[in-house]
Amino acid sequence: MATEPRLIPGIGESLRRYEDDRFIRGQGTFVADVTLPRMTHMAVLRSPLARARIRSINASKAFTLPGVIVVITGELLARRNLAWMPTASGDVQSVLAVDEVRYQGQEVACVIAEDPYTAHDALQLLEVDYEPLPPLVDATEALSPEAPLVRADKPDNRCYEWEVGDAAATERAFAEAAHITTLDTYYPRCHPAPLECCACLADVDPSVGRARVYLTSQAPHAHRTVLAQLIGLPENRVQVISPDLGGAFGNKVPIYPGYVVAVVASFLLARPVRWVEDRTGNLLATGFARDYRMRGELALAADGRMLGLRVRLLSDHGAFFADVQPSKLKAGLFHVVTGSYDIPAAHIIATGVHTNKAPGGVAYRCSFRVTEAAFLIERLVTTAAVELGVDPADLRRRNFIRAEQFPYRTATGLLYDSGDYRMALDLALEKAGYAQLRKEQEQARKRGRLIGIGISSFTEVTGAGPSRDYDLMGIKMFDAAELAIGPTGKAILKLGVQSQGQGHETTFAQIVGHELGISPDDVAVHHGDTDNTPYGLGTFGSRSTPTGGAATAVVCRQLLDKAKKIAGYLLEVDVEDVGWEPGRFFVKGADEREITIQQVAAAAYVNPPEDMEPGLDAVSYYDPPQLSFPFGTYVVAVEVNPETGEWKVLKVVAVDDCGVRINPMIVDGQIMGGLTEGYAIAAMQRIDFDAQGASTAPTFEEYLVPSAWETPRFELHEMVTPCPHHPLGAKGVGEAPTVGSPAAFVNAVIDALSHLGVRNIDMPLTADRVWEAMEAARPRKEPAPAEEPLAGTP
Ligand code: CDP
Repeated sequence: MATEPRLIPGIGESLRRYEDDRFIRGQGTFVADVTLPRMTHMAVLRSPLARARIRSINASKAFTLPGVIVVITGELLARRNLAWMPTASGDVQSVLAVDEVRYQGQEVACVIAEDPYTAHDALQLLEVDYEPLPPLVDATEALSPEAPLVRADKPDNRCYEWEVGDAAATERAFAEAAHITTLDTYYPRCHPAPLECCACLADVDPSVGRARVYLTSQAPHAHRTVLAQLIGLPENRVQVISPDLGGAFGNKVPIYPGYVVAVVASFLLARPVRWVEDRTGNLLATGFARDYRMRGELALAADGRMLGLRVRLLSDHGAFFADVQPSKLKAGLFHVVTGSYDIPAAHIIATGVHTNKAPGGVAYRCSFRVTEAAFLIERLVTTAAVELGVDPADLRRRNFIRAEQFPYRTATGLLYDSGDYRMALDLALEKAGYAQLRKEQEQARKRGRLIGIGISSFTEVTGAGPSRDYDLMGIKMFDAAELAIGPTGKAILKLGVQSQGQGHETTFAQIVGHELGISPDDVAVHHGDTDNTPYGLGTFGSRSTPTGGAATAVVCRQLLDKAKKIAGYLLEVDVEDVGWEPGRFFVKGADEREITIQQVAAAAYVNPPEDMEPGLDAVSYYDPPQLSFPFGTYVVAVEVNPETGEWKVLKVVAVDDCGVRINPMIVDGQIMGGLTEGYAIAAMQRIDFDAQGASTAPTFEEYLVPSAWETPRFELHEMVTPCPHHPLGAKGVGEAPTVGSPAAFVNAVIDALSHLGVRNIDMPLTADRVWEAMEAARPRKEPAPAEEPLAGTP
C-alpha cells in the first residue's frame, strides 16, 4: 500500500488567477480587439418609438457619405427569408423590423461602412417614416381584451400559461391553516450590464462556404449550431470564437439581431464585418432580467408550521419570448420556490405576457427564475414571522428541511441533493451577533433610530442538466472536457464551457492538478473556440463547475487508467499491482519502485506497450445525474433615516455552502461580486417605462451600478456540505449571492420599519420609496400594532 498521500496540488488552494496577468496588463483579447484585413464596420439604427408602423425607410442620403458600403434593412433580409429568426424558447424574433417596431431600441436598419465613425454618422442620414401606434406598456393590462395586440402573429398577448404542483392538496392545506400570509411583490426589470457590451466580428468566405465568427458568447457551441442553421452553412464550416469576455451574467446567452446581421452582411460583401454594441443599445435592447409580479400565499398551522404555498406569477417578456429556457420543468427553476422549507403542498400558476418592451426574462446571474423564487419565499417567510409575532430566525428553524431529510423531494418535484440549512443559519446569526443586534435595535427604537435586521436562508440551484430535464433546442445539456498530456508531461485541457471572467483557466487547471498530481502551472486551459474544443452547452446558471468541472475530473480518471497500464509496463508488474497517488505510480508493497506521471506521459509517446496505441489523451461528455443545490444564510443589518428614508448598511454576514471549494479565493470573489449585484438590485437599480414605452434608464446615469464607494463591506464565512453526486463534491457558486441577498437587504429595511406598520416596499428601495412607505404607514400605527400575535397563533 502507498503511504500517506503527498500534498495534493490543486483543490482547496487559493492560487492567484493565471488569466489576471494579461488582464491587468491590458493584454486581453476581446472581440473589439480583433482586426482582420479588409474589415468593415457595422452600426445599428434603433427605433426611438416603442410601437409604430414603418411606412418606409429611405437610405439614399446615407450613401452620399464617402465610406458607406451598404445599408441593410428588414426588407432586404425578408427577401432572403432572414427577417425573422427562431428563439431558444420556441418563439420567433424579428432580426430587423419589417412592418412594425415593437419596442424602443428595436433594430431597424444597419449601416456597413469602411470605418466605425462613418457607419455611426450614416445612421443620422437614414430616413425612417414611422406611423406611431399606442404601445402596451403595462403587463397587468396585457390580458385585457382592450389591450393593443403586440404580435399580429399571435391571437392575444399571452406568451405562456403554466401550472405546477398539486392544486387540490394545496387547497386542503389552506383550508386547514390557522394563519395565511399573503405578499404581493414585484421583482423589477433589471439588467446584467456587463462591462463589455455585445460584439460580433463575422468573417464569411462565400466562395469556399466557410464562416469564422468572433462572438461575445456564453455558449459558443450552441451559437454555432444556431448560426449554421440560420445562414445555411454546414455546421463544420462555421467556427465560433468567443475570446476574452468582459463579463456576461446571462446577457450573452441569447442570439441577438446584431450578430445575425453582421454574419449576413459579411456573407453578402465577402468581407469581414464587425459590430460593437454601444452602452445605450445594450441597456435598451439586449437581455433584460426579472420583471416578475408575484403573489405568494403561505398557509401556516397554529404552531407556525408551513402547510402550503400558493403562487401566482405574471412575467413581462416584452415583444418576443427570446430568453433561453433550457429546462423542461414547466416554470423553469421557479420550482425551487418552496426554498429551504419542508412545505408539503405547493401550487404555482405562471403567466407570461408580451408588451411593447425589449425582450426580457434572461437569467441574470441566476438559473432560470431561481432568483425570483428565492426572493419571494424569503420575503414571505419574514412577513409571516412579523404577522405571527415570532422571530424570523425561529420561524425558519421550525420549518427548515432537516439535514437528515436529504435527498429531499419538494412539493414541486425537485430533488434536493444535500444541505444543512439550520447550521448555516446558526453560524450566520452567531457571526452577526444576532442576539446583541436585536438588543441594540430595541434600544435604538426607544431613541427614535430605525435599525433593521434581515435574514435570507436561500436554496440555489446550479449545474443544468441533467439532460432528462434540460436541453437547449433539443441538444442534451451535458458538458465536455478533453485532456491531452504531451511527451514532456505538460497538459492541455479543452473545455466546452466558456469563462466570462470567473477564472476557469486557473480553477480547471487546479482540478487536473488535483486529479493527476501535476502542477496546475503545467496545465493550459483552452475554451471558447468551437474548432478546438469539444461540444459544450455553455456557461450560465453556475453550471461550469458542476458540469465542466465534473467532466474534467472524469477525463483525468479515464486518462489515468491508460497511464496506469503504461506504468505497469514500465515497472514490469501487472496493472493490478500498480498503486497510484497524485503525481506518481508505484509498485504495491514496494513503494520505492515508482515512476512519475511525467515519465509515463513520455513513455506514451516514446515506448508505449506494443499492444497499445501511442499518446495520452481522452475526452469526457458529462451528463450530471441531477442538479446541485448550494445554499446559505445572509444576515444584513441596516439603519434607516426616519427623516429622509435613506438607509445605510451596517453589516452583511454571508455564510455560503457550495460544497467543496476548488479555489477559495475565487469563490470569495464570486460571492463578493454576487452580493454587490444583489445589493444594487435591492437598493438602486430601476428600469421603468413611461406611457410611450420609453425606458427611464438608457444610460449609466440613470441605471446605477455601485462603485466601491457605495458597496458595503461583506463578512464571508464558509460551510462545506459536499455534493454527493459530483466527482469532486463541488456545487456552483457564482450566482448564489445574487439569488439570496436581495431578500436579506429588503427584509432588513422592512424590519427597521415593521413596528410602524410597513410590510412591503418593492425594490429598488430608494429613499423616496422608503420615505413614502413610512408616511403611508404612520396613520395606521395607533389602532393596529400589527406585530401583535394574531388570535390562535403562538
Ligand atoms: O458557471 P460559472 O463558472 O459561472 O460558475 P461556477 O461554476 O459557480 O464557478 C465560478 C468560479 O468559481 C469558477 O472559476 C469555479 O471553478 C470556481 N468555483 C470553485 O472554485 N469552487 C466551487 N465549488 C465552485 C466554483
